[in-house]
Amino acid sequence: MNNKLLYEISNFGTPIYFYLKEKILENSEKLKNYFKNVNIFYAVKANFNLKILEIFKEQGFGFEVVSKGELKLALSTKIDPKKIIFNGNGKTYEEVKFAIENGIEFFNFDSLDQLLLLEETAKALNKTIKALMRIKPLVDVETHSHLQTGTFTSKFGLSDEEIDEVIDIYKKLKNTKIIGIHSHIGSNIKDEEPFIKSAYRVLKISKVIENLEILNFGGGFSINMNFKEIPKLYNELSNKYQIFIEPGRYLIADAGFILTKVISIKKGYPYDFLVIDCGMSELIRPALYSAYHPIRSLENRNSEKFYIVVGPICESSDVFGEYFLPNMKLNELLIIENCGAYGYSMSSNYNGREKPLEILIENEKLEIINERKFL
Ligand code: LLP
Repeated sequence: MNNKLLYEISNFGTPIYFYLKEKILENSEKLKNYFKNVNIFYAVKANFNLKILEIFKEQGFGFEVVSKGELKLALSTKIDPKKIIFNGNGKTYEEVKFAIENGIEFFNFDSLDQLLLLEETAKALNKTIKALMRIKPLVDVETHSHLQTGTFTSKFGLSDEEIDEVIDIYKKLKNTKIIGIHSHIGSNIKDEEPFIKSAYRVLKISKVIENLEILNFGGGFSINMNFKEIPKLYNELSNKYQIFIEPGRYLIADAGFILTKVISIKKGYPYDFLVIDCGMSELIRPALYSAYHPIRSLENRNSEKFYIVVGPICESSDVFGEYFLPNMKLNELLIIENCGAYGYSMSSNYNGREKPLEILIENEKLEIINERKFL
């Protein structure tokens, strides 16, 4: 990425999101190479820009969605509806009905109520649907507590006790076929071990389901995941079952950036504050998960110092953290890295701010893929 290109981007105004298509393709290829016999469903929640979804569709991925809105976006890429998994712990009758009417094949459920909702809706429409039962993997992972989903106290998944009850009642159902097990241990996980542990627990539980076809191991890979054992195990299991994974972050996080501008520098303790024009409304991850996003300057100066980088939002949590940067001047540009996943998709109009523009870059050519908009 050269500075000329970055200045060109800044002409559209800051803060601004931009994505490198080459990096998205590189991440996709890497994952496909690791998981040769695995069905990959991109987790739409990570970034639901239509252009980005189209790239993942072209890569041959399916989509994992969690709402009617995400489902509509996924369908608008003209993907085969059979390549969409409808997930979520609180689907409504209207959402399930819409999904069935649009030919969605796979539904995950993680409560008796949600299983009964699938059955009721399928029955009303005189259809049979395929369901995957989400279990509690019971693994602790090293990630922010908000990003853990696999523990006993998590709101997601069925406990062993609940599984027994579900299976008893399931036996009487006519329009829902449980053909798989779903698990998801959390997000931004750097180690392979919890994935392996979770897979063995899924295998253990799998015995309760007759005619099991699918094991869905969810998403959760951090961008720094060093794959060794997971692909081996999943590829091996694919001799017996169809294996599904639902990665989001791994595919898109490091392909996305925010270009932002310094709007104020003021005395602070222990370091000076660098106020930038990007805040928690554009990138909420630092405020919500204490997430660290590398920030770089375009300037190359000998004088460097620590700053506390903060946004312009009227909240004390609107802080990116402490960064060692060149001595900055007003209006100079900074790049915030790893913003491709859960960046724009979690942005808001808080403080009456506009949603930023999004740009896709391919071969150094800029394409606007989402206009700046207010409400
Ligand atoms: N499958 C299920 C069932 C999920 O709940 C999620 C993410 C994924 C797949 C994709 O996970 P990934 O591969 O992207 O880690 N907003 C948070 C992340 C929340 C993830 C929610 N579920 C963040 O900014 O870090």
